Amino acid sequence: MALVTGGARGCGLAFVRGLAEAGANVAVFDVVSPDEGFYAIEKDCGVRTAYYKVDVSSQESLQEGFASFQKDFDNALDICVPCAGINRHRPFLEFTYKDHQDLLSINVLGLYFTAQLAAKQMVANKTKHGSIILVASMASHIAVRSQLCSAYCGTKGAVRSMCPAIAKELAEYGIRVNSISPGYVKTEMTASFPHLLDGWKSEAMNGRIAEPEDIMGACVFLASDASSYMTGSDIAVDGGVTRW
Ligand SMILES: NC(=O)c1ccc[n+]([C@@H]2O[C@H](COP(=O)([O-])OP(=O)(O)OC[C@H]3O[C@@H](n4cnc5c(N)ncnc54)[C@H](O)[C@@H]3O)[C@@H](O)[C@H]2O)c1
Repeated sequence: MALVTGGARGCGLAFVRGLAEAGANVAVFDVVSPDEGFYAIEKDCGVRTAYYKVDVSSQESLQEGFASFQKDFDNALDICVPCAGINRHRPFLEFTYKDHQDLLSINVLGLYFTAQLAAKQMVANKTKHGSIILVASMASHIAVRSQLCSAYCGTKGAVRSMCPAIAKELAEYGIRVNSISPGYVKTEMTASFPHLLDGWKSEAMNGRIAEPEDIMGACVFLASDASSYMTGSDIAVDGGVTRW
């Protein structure tokens, strides 16, 4: 059983499909209704799926979401992918407190408490296959050349650096914790920058921008026992942008 936040579209939805193709039932927490593709997954993959309207930046909403999910799926949970995230583009010198706070509440606090509630559920159900996959970003490795996103970079740095510390604490329960750092991916998040596409392509060694499905494999790998000796690590899936 897997839970993906931000799974209504984009990278999150690709993770839902990948995990379902590998045989997992998948629940989604998101503030928006899922894209049409979500509803085909159940039939295509022969698994159960469910959508819960949850705002990960609200502790109350998260707790209510977990309570409903636990009831519907008998407390089952082995895989959690906190993927919900937002970005704001503004020069560092003009960034506002409010915008930064929004980013922190979703990208950092939302992700952290999703992972915490998921881990509590995994500890309680004594899963033997616990895996938490935090969605960071290549923006935690580098200053994104063409974008003004200092606060976003900071939130993703927080994700990447909390990962080994959480991994250390959950190891005794047999729960592994890793992160993924995607590069440029074609989603709603990047859709408002058509003028930057060519530049992004030239930043990647393979000369192209990722589709959400390009990031999916890393998630399925980290969720599965194929990665059973990995914990506290980050996998960059960025077409080589950070490795020139
Ligand atoms: N697109 C990229 O180039 C890229 C690169 C690196 C990392 N990422 C990360 O991947 C993740 C997914 O982003 P994406 O590109 O698919 O963008 P996206 O905007 O398509 O998806 C983000 C999802 O998160 C949901 N969400 C936002 N705020 C939420 C909240 N408060 N509670 C619950 N759900 C919420 C959105 O509704 C949406 O479904 C994000 O964490 C993002 O930072 C994206």
